Amino acid sequence: MFTPKKEDNFTFGLWTVGWLANDPFGDPTRPALEPWEYTEKLAEIGAAGITFHDNDVFPFDASDSTRDKIVERVKKACDENGLKIPMITTNTFTHPIFKDGGLTNNDRSIRRFGLKKILRNVDLAASLGAKVFVMWGGREGSEYDSSKDLNAAFERYKEGLDAVAGYIKEQGYDLTIGLEPKPNEPRGDIFLPTVGHALALIAELDNGDVVGLNPETGHEQMAGLNYTHALAQALNAGKLAHIDLNGQSGIKYDQDKAFGHGDLASAFFTVDLLENGFPGGGPRYEGPRHFDFKPSRTEGMDGVWESAKACMEMYLMLKAKAKAFREDPKTQELMEAASIPELAVPTMSDGESYSDLLASDDIDVEAAASREYHFVELYEHAMRHLIG
Ligand code: GCO
Ligand code: MN
Ligand code: MN
Repeated sequence: MFTPKKEDNFTFGLWTVGWLANDPFGDPTRPALEPWEYTEKLAEIGAAGITFHDNDVFPFDASDSTRDKIVERVKKACDENGLKIPMITTNTFTHPIFKDGGLTNNDRSIRRFGLKKILRNVDLAASLGAKVFVMWGGREGSEYDSSKDLNAAFERYKEGLDAVAGYIKEQGYDLTIGLEPKPNEPRGDIFLPTVGHALALIAELDNGDVVGLNPETGHEQMAGLNYTHALAQALNAGKLAHIDLNGQSGIKYDQDKAFGHGDLASAFFTVDLLENGFPGGGPRYEGPRHFDFKPSRTEGMDGVWESAKACMEMYLMLKAKAKAFREDPKTQELMEAASIPELAVPTMSDGESYSDLLASDDIDVEAAASREYHFVELYEHAMRHLIG
């Protein structure tokens, strides 16, 4: 029943199952497979597609012919196994040249180099039919407040994003950029730490019409924020381009656990939003259910595939629970009692003037102040569906 099918649209980054489990304190604990081997195995366990960074597939310094050959091989593995490649992203963080960032590096020659690497990868994304181009600026930031002219850094970030977005438009590519916010790690402070910060910056871009967001569960939670709210605000703004689902337990390093293996109740409401939408209708996310997790360092290759399956199974289990919760008449009743449908009614009436509003006398303040909302009962009812 919780076996993933192609139509569930689950996708995985090659860097997720491909992580060798090296961390700042320890060496890799797993062997490296070829990109097409990860691809074939992901197809076998029920994924619908893969995503990757340029350098998950070919080396940083690959010649054009090596690059083409390897990409061809991965593409072939996808075609033969019925997998799509809906998203591509660029590695502007691993090579030492990017230690102070790509688009916001203090060194102009490195910014130009970074921009060229990204534009080349935009071409690759378009040629593979990807629809989303994720940009995670992991090295865009600082450890020391003295190290940057912060105003100039934001100007250069906007310039860089506008250049990539402008290139997409000039080439006529059907691609949307998905900015991926993260508060810290690897930099002490990363620019665009949250969905809200990224939305504000997008609004200032000249080419912001093709720039949206790729929010990650753990990244918002590392900042102590609510991932479901982040998805909701991005949807409301028409900016939810893609998602990175994973598991995180509280405000600490980026744990990248399997989806749901962190704040389970929060994961339930994330899936409820993705699958059932807002209670009163509104914008929906129809794209891939993309997992960006890391199989823990304790796991061997069996554990890698168990972890990937866990992400999908967890999503499907929560989907079934969330559907039952929404379809339960008791839920509808409690939503009514909480006045949730009323939040969809505009606060001022159609055509009402400010003077009409100011003159209106339609509230019994005491009664309104003492009304009940039954929010706790509604939440408990959700938990009955989740774990009852
Ligand atoms: C992280 C990020 C990355 C990005 C990836 C896509 O914290 O390491 O989540 O995994 O999602 O680089 O650009
Ligand atoms: Mn992450
Ligand atoms: Mn991510």
